[in-house]
Amino acid sequence: MSISKQEIIELLNTENSQAQELRKKAYKIKSDTIGKNVYLRALIEFTNACEKDCYYCGLRKSNADVKRYLLSEDEIFDLAMFAHENKFGSIALQSGEVLDKNYVKNFGKLLAKIKQKTNNNLRIVLSCGEQSKEVYKYWKECGGDRYLLRIETTNPKIYEKIHPNDDKHNFQARLDCLQHLRDVGFQVGSGMMVGLPYQNLEDIADDLLFLKEFDIDMCGLGPFIEHSKTPLYEKRNEIPSRDKRLQLALNSVAILRMLMPDINIASATSLDALAKNGREQGILAGANVIMPNITPERCRESYNLYERNIAITKKNVAKELEKFGEQVCWGKFGDSQHYRNRK
Ligand code: 5AD
Ligand code: SF4
Repeated sequence: MSISKQEIIELLNTENSQAQELRKKAYKIKSDTIGKNVYLRALIEFTNACEKDCYYCGLRKSNADVKRYLLSEDEIFDLAMFAHENKFGSIALQSGEVLDKNYVKNFGKLLAKIKQKTNNNLRIVLSCGEQSKEVYKYWKECGGDRYLLRIETTNPKIYEKIHPNDDKHNFQARLDCLQHLRDVGFQVGSGMMVGLPYQNLEDIADDLLFLKEFDIDMCGLGPFIEHSKTPLYEKRNEIPSRDKRLQLALNSVAILRMLMPDINIASATSLDALAKNGREQGILAGANVIMPNITPERCRESYNLYERNIAITKKNVAKELEKFGEQVCWGKFGDSQHYRNRK
């Protein structure tokens, strides 16, 4: 479906019954296209180490309050096996950005081992930041199936304001990475934060149109949540209210579903930071993927991109969704239909 930028801006701004209408429409498109299905990815936050210093994120290198951890290869492998045995068709391996050559090599070997020991019956989603095209190619060959790299915002001026101004944080480099991921054959996911400082409705509309234009296979988008140990906390009075951010994120999910009926859209955990049933609302607005967290509990407090209540990470979201009549797809890969259709 094609929707003009002006229409998107108006839809983003809808509230109350009009917003309910919008989300119902999107939910119907999702149900008609991919069924009343919710796909699962078992989320493993395997290290909170990060070489970047994004102004919004609690894991930024300069935040000395974070206790850094790195799960051992054996532990990551065991978690992958646990996910496989418990019929999560996919795992999502998420980390900060680590560029160390040894790590890159060993991580690839680990992917290959997971693939081999599961007889290729487990999909692997990677969310490990910007890497060179060679590294992406190597990880793909080792067994990575999908890669999630959020563009965060498609307005380069905002991008510059929410990141340090140096070589490590470069908008064009980010775009290039998305293209490289596509070139080496990953199912490619991207997305953005909504409700950022400096961001207006037109910016969010541009972000949504970018996702369509780039022809992404999957999306993770969520509300910006201020974190007291980050520079952007200063701007906390210059962003939409928590309620408005929740509305904007849910409306964005719905609009994206209308723009791209057959992609995978994750219902972001950050939605749960703004409402007790935020992720359920995301599914009812057109999302079709959830990522239950299986990271060992001792690490969860140290993986705070934004300030979150640890209870959120323990919520049995699959069970909650069944109450809404959703079919939770245990044992299914849940590949992006869009990717398959494009190929
Ligand atoms: N609020 C919401 N999302 C955040 N992320 C990082 N920091 C925050 C925050 N304060 C998101 C970014 C990043 C992903 C891993 O987490 O979009 O891509
Ligand atoms: Fe690192 Fe990602 Fe946080 Fe940026 S958003 S500081 S790259 S973990």
